[in-house]
Amino acid sequence: MKTVLVTGASGFLGWNVSRYCPPDWRIVGTYHLHRDGLFPKSEYVQLDLTDKNQIWRVLKNVKPDAVFHLAACSSTNYCEENPDETYPVNVTATANLAEMCADRHVCLVFTSSEQVFDGSRDYYSETDLPDPRNEYGKQKSEAEARIMTIYPEAAIARISVLYGPSSQVAPGFLQEWLDAWQKFFPVTAFHDEFRTFLSSASAVEGLFTLLNQGASGIFHLGGANPFSRYDFALLARDIFQLPVAPIESRSQREVEMPAYRPPRLLLNNAKIAGIGFRPRHARDELQNLAKEILLPPLFSEN
Ligand SMILES: NC(=O)c1ccc[n+]([C@@H]2O[C@H](COP(=O)([O-])OP(=O)(O)OC[C@H]3O[C@@H](n4cnc5c(N)ncnc54)[C@H](OP(=O)(O)O)[C@@H]3O)[C@@H](O)[C@H]2O)c1
Repeated sequence: MKTVLVTGASGFLGWNVSRYCPPDWRIVGTYHLHRDGLFPKSEYVQLDLTDKNQIWRVLKNVKPDAVFHLAACSSTNYCEENPDETYPVNVTATANLAEMCADRHVCLVFTSSEQVFDGSRDYYSETDLPDPRNEYGKQKSEAEARIMTIYPEAAIARISVLYGPSSQVAPGFLQEWLDAWQKFFPVTAFHDEFRTFLSSASAVEGLFTLLNQGASGIFHLGGANPFSRYDFALLARDIFQLPVAPIESRSQREVEMPAYRPPRLLLNNAKIAGIGFRPRHARDELQNLAKEILLPPLFSEN
């Protein structure tokens, strides 16, 4: 059985990689500060990516066939306010890891973001040039460029906003909505922020497609269809059968945020479809999820 080292396995996507891992791959995951809530079936090691020696030691001990590099300071607002703290994790550590993977001929798949784009056009393709408008997007864009220089055989998945099941340590936004709705708290959702929301199950399938196909270069990985956050909330509420769950529609302008977020960031999936992976419609994905994430019956019957 082959081994994939998953950095950031304690995070939202890392937890989902363990959950949806195909049976022919063994996962060794890394965590940094959060040991609690790790997905039980995988093995784990602690890693601080800002310490180059630790990265080297983990690669030497685990001897992975491949690395999914997911670990990051992933909050757009936190990056904006703390660039000096987040740059070494998002950029320097990524470049260090790419160098070590290149030296050892270990396959590398890195997760980037649609935030590398400025939002000035519809449906971005891989040939469109990045023009990030916030610090997180700048760091991701620089990390991509460093990887492509150091290790052009690596694959980079630019991912849209993710939804799916999660641990309590790293809940995704959907879990936060469901938690709020169960207490009958309203969720606030922008009606003017559009994304190709992607299910975590699809994201994991996409990452393993890149790995199994030996893909190199940049690939976009977004959901099959675009939604505003508000419309996505309406769809989720409908599918989870919570008709009276409160949703507050807001405009981006009404909520002060440290980082600018382009209102419209949609990813075109044609390239990854060409190597065999096509994300499913959000309605189908949410229906599958509603079978996985069981809500307390009292509320769902209201
Ligand atoms: N979630 C999304 O919607 C989304 C969308 C597009 C792209 N992405 C990208 O996908 C990747 C995974 O995102 P996510 O949502 O799973 O992020 P997340 O939940 O914030 O998890 C971040 C992970 O990085 C680890 N980490 C942070 N600093 C570290 C350090 N110094 N050394 C080692 N590990 C460190 C954390 O470990 P501890 O918690 O143990 O400290 C955690 O496991 C990221 O690269 C993110 O930018 C995510």
